[in-house]
Amino acid sequence: MNRLGILISGRGSNFEAIADSIDEGRLDAEIAIVISNNPHAKGLRKAKARGLKAVCIRSRAMEREAYDRLVVATLRKEEVDLVCLAGFMRLLSAYFVGEYPNRILNIHPSLLPSFPGLEAQVQALEHGVKHSGCTVHFVDEHLDAGPIICQAVVPVLDTDNEDALAARILKEEHRIYTEAVRLVLSNRFRIEGRRVLRTP
Ligand code: GAR
Repeated sequence: MNRLGILISGRGSNFEAIADSIDEGRLDAEIAIVISNNPHAKGLRKAKARGLKAVCIRSRAMEREAYDRLVVATLRKEEVDLVCLAGFMRLLSAYFVGEYPNRILNIHPSLLPSFPGLEAQVQALEHGVKHSGCTVHFVDEHLDAGPIICQAVVPVLDTDNEDALAARILKEEHRIYTEAVRLVLSNRFRIEGRRVLRTP
């Protein structure tokens, strides 16, 4: 069975969507561990309530690679095959990325490469785009970069504020994260340059 390690910093709704997909038989995997860098993350409580192993490894005041070494050691101990960043608001070091080549995914609430970083939905509104969406991509050591696995598009309506747009995007995030995890676990893809191409 494929063992997922899910990294969160907050609410954890993308983690819950993946957990629901597993529970409902739409994803053939198990969640080995949920790790939060933030002790107050609501997602940690949700993971524990589901009976999953969930731990906080605090990142405050820690040097990036030293922190990542702790996280990787924990993932290794749990025999994690695939790492899913789900609202994990930290850059990974080259060390972490090198430990799980093409085995770390991230979800971001914009159509990358537009609007990387914080408050992607606000950036989209301020820029005036007519469509936005979300992206699941492989993680490298750069911010919201790495080859793109799945994207979904949503309209930006004239009546939108940040919350309305974020809610429309979040619904798609919950759908495509499972799709991306399924594709990567199936190994039915190859990467050519930046392109993730499906193979039969
Ligand atoms: C999600 O919208 C996710 O795309 C975003 O944080 C939110 C976490 O929500 N991630 C990023 O912006 C990463 N750059 P969640 O904790 O409910 O899954």
